[in-house]
Amino acid sequence: MPVSYRLLYNSYNIPSMSEKEIVLVTGGTNGIGLDTVIYIASASPNYHVIIGARNLSKGEKVLKDVQAKSSIQGSVSLVQLDANEDSSIAAAAKKIKEDFGHLDTLVNNAGICPEPEKEQWPSREVMRSTFETNVFGPTVLTEALVPLLKKSSSPRIINVSSIVGSTSAISDHSSPISAVKYPGYRASKAALNMITAYQYAQLKEFGFKVWAFCPGYVVTDLGGDREQRVENGIESSETSAKGVLQIIQGERDADVGGFVARYGEKYEW
Ligand SMILES: NC(=O)c1ccc[n+]([C@@H]2O[C@H](COP(=O)([O-])OP(=O)(O)OC[C@H]3O[C@@H](n4cnc5c(N)ncnc54)[C@H](OP(=O)(O)O)[C@@H]3O)[C@@H](O)[C@H]2O)c1
Repeated sequence: MPVSYRLLYNSYNIPSMSEKEIVLVTGGTNGIGLDTVIYIASASPNYHVIIGARNLSKGEKVLKDVQAKSSIQGSVSLVQLDANEDSSIAAAAKKIKEDFGHLDTLVNNAGICPEPEKEQWPSREVMRSTFETNVFGPTVLTEALVPLLKKSSSPRIINVSSIVGSTSAISDHSSPISAVKYPGYRASKAALNMITAYQYAQLKEFGFKVWAFCPGYVVTDLGGDREQRVENGIESSETSAKGVLQIIQGERDADVGGFVARYGEKYEW
């Protein structure tokens, strides 16, 4: 950084990029991911949030909208990232390395739920596409980013899961969670929970902290019933974003390696 810029930064106490915590949010262009980007970037000038966007033109529009918000204190940028494409994952990892040299927090948020609620059993095609995005994507992306996370002094991985992926919850037949359908989606989140536990077991010795996070049942485009969710008074996805920020800020460190949710809850796997 040129000396004149450094002086300007210093005089306003604005952290330089090398002093900031770098956070990547996949699926940062919609719903919980977008609110998480806004929430983290609004929390402190110390955060730089990278929006992972599968669709670059949507990402560019979202980036502009986020940067225009008066609440933003940190900084925000964009990377093309399709969780279903290995070439996109490799290119994103390369770009983050070139731009920042390391990564502090990976939020594996991108996810889909393509099966209709009325269907009792998922088709092979639906199972395959759900696992592709919800399980294979975050698994492969995390592996690609481990070298950059290892360069952080406090690496964190947050895998956005769901209570419906809990084997304990479905086994309690008195709980309404037990009756929820979407079996392919449920199985994908159970698999993501296992990947979470595996990542923590493997990476703990390098100082990594890993969680599965349930964002709660909130209003987004997931499942295609946004209006019904609004009509039913379901909570905003800002509440989920707040939960992610709590993890990043160390408030859920006591539950590291576990399955946590927005309001301080810890779930059984
Ligand atoms: N909403 C809930 O009540 C709820 C409850 C429990 C768990 N979750 C979990 O929360 C996460 C976020 O979901 P949401 O509710 O915010 O849904 P959403 O509004 O549909 O947003 C999903 C995001 O994922 C992105 N995405 C989808 N496929 C992708 C791929 N192949 N590669 C990269 N990005 C991809 C979408 O990109 P585009 O912007 O291009 O569409 C979008 O930004 C998911 O993991 C979901 O399972 C949600």
